[in-house]
Amino acid sequence: MREGAMRLKDKVCLITGAGSGIGRATAELFAGEGATILATDVDEAAALKTAADVAGRGWRLDVTDQASCESVVAEAIRETGRIDVLFNNAGIAGVGKLHETSLELWERVMAVNVRGVFLASRAVVPHMIERRSGSIVNMSSCIAEIGLAERASYGASKGAVLALTRCMQADYAQFGIRVNALLPGTIHTPFVDRYLKESYPDPQAGLESIKKRQLTGELGRAEDVAYAALYLASDESRFVLAAAMYVDGGVRGAK
Ligand SMILES: NC(=O)c1ccc[n+]([C@@H]2O[C@H](COP(=O)([O-])OP(=O)(O)OC[C@H]3O[C@@H](n4cnc5c(N)ncnc54)[C@H](O)[C@@H]3O)[C@@H](O)[C@H]2O)c1
Repeated sequence: MREGAMRLKDKVCLITGAGSGIGRATAELFAGEGATILATDVDEAAALKTAADVAGRGWRLDVTDQASCESVVAEAIRETGRIDVLFNNAGIAGVGKLHETSLELWERVMAVNVRGVFLASRAVVPHMIERRSGSIVNMSSCIAEIGLAERASYGASKGAVLALTRCMQADYAQFGIRVNALLPGTIHTPFVDRYLKESYPDPQAGLESIKKRQLTGELGRAEDVAYAALYLASDESRFVLAAAMYVDGGVRGAK
C-alpha cells in the first residue's frame, strides 16, 4: 500500500465494484491517503481480497439488489459509525448498435449501471443527510457526452448516471452532500480486455485502433481515474458540485 499525504484522513469510503480495475486501484489509493475502505463487489472473493490488501472491510454487494445494498450499508455503518464517501463505481459494458441489442442485454446494463447507482445511493443518502455531510462520486463515461459507435445500451446508461448526478446534487447540496461524476475515456482494465475479446476478431488490432481515440495515443490506467476520484472524495473539492470530470486522454479532441 502506497503512503500518501493523508488527503482522506479519518474518512470512511464505500466503493462498489472494488474487486477489479478502477475500483480496486481507488481502494488502494484512498487507503494510502488515510481512508478506511469498505470494499464491496458482486464478486465476494474479489471484494475480500481488495479489503485484505488495504486493511479495510469487505462485503459481497450486488448493486442491482435492493436488499444487498441496504443490508451491507447498514452493517457497514454499524461497524464504522459512518460513511463519508460513496464511490458508485460498479458497472458493466454493453456492446452493440441499438437494433442489435437484445432486451436482456439492455436491461442488464441498465440494472447494473443505473439502478445500481440509484440503489446504493438510496441506501447511503439518508445517513449522509443525517450527518449533514458526504461526497458521492458517480461513475459515468465520456461516452455519455460524445457518444460512440456500438455502445447504445452502455452510452444510455452512462448518460442516465450523469443526469442523475446533477439531479441528486440539486436535492442534496442543502445537506452538505456533494455529488459529482467521473467521465473516463478508455482505461486499460479487465473491462476493456473483455470487450476487446468479445467485439474484435483480432483483439490486439482492436487495442491499437482504440488507442488512437485518445490525443495521448494511449489508453488510461486505472490509477488515472483513481486520482480524480481522490480529489472529488477529499475536502479539497469542497466547492466542486455536480461536476462532470473528464479523465479521457483528450478523446473529445481526437476526432
Ligand atoms: N475501463 C474503461 O475504459 C471505463 C471507461 C469509462 C467508464 N468506466 C466505468 O468504470 C467502472 C469500473 O470499470 P472497470 O474498467 O474498473 O471494470 P472492471 O470490470 O475491471 O471492474 C468492475 C467491477 O464491478 C463489479 N460488478 C459488476 N457487476 C456488479 C454488480 N451487479 N454489483 C456490484 N459489483 C459489480 C465487477 O465484479 C468488477 O469487480 C464501470 O462503471 C465502468 O463502466 C470504465
